[in-house]
Amino acid sequence: MCYAIPAQVVEIRQPIGIVDYFGEKRKVLINFLDLEIGDYIYAQGGIAVTKISPPEAREVLNTWKEAFFSLKKIDAEISKVDLSDSLSRYPREPAFNRNKSAAGSLNPSPAVLKILQKINRKEKITFNEFLFLLKIKKREELKLLYNLANNIRQKEISNACCVHGIIEFSNYCKRSCWYCGIRKERRIKRYRMENKEIIDLATHAVKKLGFKALVLQSGEDDDYNQASLLSLVKEIKKLGVLIILSIGEREKSVYQHLFEAGARGVLLRFETSNKNLFQKMRPHSCWNTRLQLIRELKKIGYIVASGFIIGLPGERDEDLLNNILLTHSLKPDMYSFGPFIPARETPLENHRPGIKDKILKAIALTRFLERKGTILITTALETLAREAKREGLLCGGNSLMINITPPKYKKLYAIYNQRAGRGITTVRSIRATIDLLYSLGRAPVDIGHNSP
Ligand code: 5AD
Repeated sequence: MCYAIPAQVVEIRQPIGIVDYFGEKRKVLINFLDLEIGDYIYAQGGIAVTKISPPEAREVLNTWKEAFFSLKKIDAEISKVDLSDSLSRYPREPAFNRNKSAAGSLNPSPAVLKILQKINRKEKITFNEFLFLLKIKKREELKLLYNLANNIRQKEISNACCVHGIIEFSNYCKRSCWYCGIRKERRIKRYRMENKEIIDLATHAVKKLGFKALVLQSGEDDDYNQASLLSLVKEIKKLGVLIILSIGEREKSVYQHLFEAGARGVLLRFETSNKNLFQKMRPHSCWNTRLQLIRELKKIGYIVASGFIIGLPGERDEDLLNNILLTHSLKPDMYSFGPFIPARETPLENHRPGIKDKILKAIALTRFLERKGTILITTALETLAREAKREGLLCGGNSLMINITPPKYKKLYAIYNQRAGRGITTVRSIRATIDLLYSLGRAPVDIGHNSP
């Protein structure tokens, strides 16, 4: 979106290019554009998405010059951590958090400190140690855990934060997932956006609002067949934007063709690592097939966002940890997980929602495992509590999405109750997001490609 800084290509080692943001270097995949050293580009998700003219780039860079360095300073200040056993451990908190923090009077236990110090020294952590951290309850210990994760994020990838737009283009779904409010059995008003309507919206998002990456999301809706998806991707690709598909399980060949047409990312969660739970929650869906598809997508060349839901019935801390470890083993380009939130008229309508601190702990633990990773703060987390988005960014998170679906459709994309942002216009969400990122010292620099 308008919150984006151009980068200059300073080195080419096909397929990777080294790009520069005010002296800060990042790796990006450059093989989808015809680039030379000195060219200016916008990068998203580790991919050079579009080339821009030097005069235009210089103009934007000029407006960013001062802000770039002051944002870095703010972030560095907020992200300090002290793992010694002292009373003045905590960094100065942003003003909004002061007074609100419910720090307990008890100091972190030596056992917790020991594990966190190990993580800080980049030593390997065992399953049981991670599990121990997942069970932390004391506020003081949680704060230290979150601060360390934020500190690692800052040290490893600085204040880069990506913001993608998401268009929910159909709420039809052929699946019967127990947790989902758009499952086929649910009697809700359904909608499908015509290709033209989606393309017009994407054009507005790119040309007028400045988005550089768009997620196209829908239920599993076969009405959009290969031909119709291909024409959609081909048109949107012309806008010079990173296209990320979130359309569920499709044949590998369909994804292959869509890649060739210009789609570059896929968002597909495995939902849970617990096969029995998966089978119960997703009748007629196969865990192995879904996992295999996620692996195939990476092989095709897509950047892949994957993850799970936290708080499904019967889920234990061991399952949650296995979810994190399984996601990590898939080497995703983006981690995407959030709380379960009940949806009316579904088998889980009376089940309690996921717990905020569980999600924050999962973000922190993921950051410990994947120090340079991209971790999305989901709308579901935001739905749990107003401050949760900020809290997620302060415990390891570094990626956001802005829902740009037209309001008349947004309210119908009811995968769970009371979704955050459903009554807010796109322009207001963008403003609020920029304000939030500014207050935390985050810059729209691309996080870069995670190639060695
Ligand atoms: N609560 C939280 N997340 C949900 N999803 C679907 N239903 C719910 C719910 N009730 C998530 C699934 C899916 C993604 C698009 O939305 O993880 O993959």
